[in-house]
Amino acid sequence: MAQASGSADVPSMGRRQFMNFLTFGSVTGVALGALYPVVKYFLPPSSGGAGGGLTAKDALGNDIKASEFLATHSVGDRVLAQGFKGDPTYLIVDGNDAIRDYGLNAVCTHLGCVVPWNASADKFICPCHGSQYNNEGKVVRGPAPLSLALAHTSVEDDAVVFTKWTETDFRTGEQPWWS
Ligand code: FES
Repeated sequence: MAQASGSADVPSMGRRQFMNFLTFGSVTGVALGALYPVVKYFLPPSSGGAGGGLTAKDALGNDIKASEFLATHSVGDRVLAQGFKGDPTYLIVDGNDAIRDYGLNAVCTHLGCVVPWNASADKFICPCHGSQYNNEGKVVRGPAPLSLALAHTSVEDDAVVFTKWTETDFRTGEQPWWS
């Protein structure tokens, strides 16, 4: 009798544990699902390439493919992509098969407006307070105090990849103010 009751308890315990496991699994799954966007928010955007590179993305958040990008833009174009910290960053088309090896952060160094490219003036001209930057992003008219930040640009397996610019700013001969 004791044996029967004991053997009846064993599957009962097993079921309870199983149900606990299922409940734990469900709760954990829901919690992880709820946490995912929060965790993702604090992680850097998807990176690509080696050495801390960041895959450039278009306005829709899709990875930019160099072949498609070059096929749809012309030499001299400055085209916005998402760069480090999601900052709008210009890619520069140097040729039918060449993206310039640096990009320009489009955030004005005065008060942070996004600076549009003005092809006819061959400059970036900020609409907010009139600062101007030459075609390499060097400030040529204030009130902006500094040139546009640089990032290295390379193509790896057809992906356009930004990497941090930590060397001397070739436009000013000074250490980069953004690093
Ligand atoms: Fe660009 Fe003021 S924010 S000039």
